[in-house]
Amino acid sequence: MTVATPEGTVISPGRVNLLGEHVDYNDGVVLPAAIDRSVKIIFKKNDSRLVSLKAVDLQDQCVIHLSHLEKKTSQEGKPLPDWALYPAGVMWSLQRHGLDLIGFDAQFSSNIPIGAGLSSSAAIEVGFAVVCMSLCGWQLERLELAKLCQQAEREYVGVNCGLMDQFACACGVEDHVVMFDTRSLASQTLPLPPATTLVIADSSLRRSLLTSAYNDRRRDCESVVAYFNQLDPSIRSLRDLGEERLLAHEHALPPAAFRHARHVVEEISRVNQAIDLLKEKDARGFGRLMFSSHDSLRDLFEVSRPELDILVDIAAGFDGCLGSRLTGAGFGGSTVSLVLDEKSDAFIHQLRDLYQKQTGLQAVVFSTRASRGAHLNPD
Ligand code: GLA
Repeated sequence: MTVATPEGTVISPGRVNLLGEHVDYNDGVVLPAAIDRSVKIIFKKNDSRLVSLKAVDLQDQCVIHLSHLEKKTSQEGKPLPDWALYPAGVMWSLQRHGLDLIGFDAQFSSNIPIGAGLSSSAAIEVGFAVVCMSLCGWQLERLELAKLCQQAEREYVGVNCGLMDQFACACGVEDHVVMFDTRSLASQTLPLPPATTLVIADSSLRRSLLTSAYNDRRRDCESVVAYFNQLDPSIRSLRDLGEERLLAHEHALPPAAFRHARHVVEEISRVNQAIDLLKEKDARGFGRLMFSSHDSLRDLFEVSRPELDILVDIAAGFDGCLGSRLTGAGFGGSTVSLVLDEKSDAFIHQLRDLYQKQTGLQAVVFSTRASRGAHLNPD
């Protein structure tokens, strides 16, 4: 299938999270930005109930019937390939929300590294939601669209994720961080620290056991909330818990669950400090919080890997790097660093070289700009 006369093109970005990791399913505030790497979807309607999908990068394709999405099979009855679960899940979620869909042919490609913690899957989800919106004549608020994509990932794909990734891909703003409160669902854009560049380093380590480890962490957080909720019903999430109170109950909690909850509680308070620092344009202070966040993800939340720690250690030793941390769920994937503009080229080279020397692995290191959320191109 080729899409000969395209009816439209959607560009849907990945995201990088600057601070607030593993807090979006604990009612915390996150600070992500959409990036200038994206999924590009070319599509046209086909006057049927069939959706033909072609994953150009994977050289694979499948056809899905809009009336049988819940079966997770292709039109010929074969299980959907993994990549197709994302667009199919989004269509399933939109239909379940009562939105009518029509058949279309689409092909997509992406320059977001897959499995690198940069939300390549949320970019596909949000991108296909925008495709459906532009073809089908209904409108959804961006936040609503992000929520329906999150439901697709949770209930159709099976990762019990928070809302950050889909929100960032849907609502990104050029040159800004989007502060998103996952409890109130309020958001606000904040300029990135002046005279700094964001550098992403993909460790090349693909995330293993992500779904089970992610869901396990989430369960630990819920179990700590359940413990405190019995003592005080006003505690509904880890956001309601101060550090002091958590520390006072350390003896009563399983050690791993305690450590994981401690990361979340401290990370939530780091984000509060970081918002003030961003407003004061204090790039150095913000960077210090990025380093502390990484330490906490490594030692308390236990989602780092030695290769990611090496990337952060190299970054910490570079004069002109203000902060660095793993970004996304962890267990592999990428780091993000905040670097002085004039030092960013040298930083990229050094990080690549030293990482290769220390691990024998090739990291893909690149600077990125905060970009706009998924959109029709041109719109
Ligand atoms: C993944 C999830 C997000 C968030 C991050 C960790 O990217 O999809 O919802 O929980 O991990 O901050």
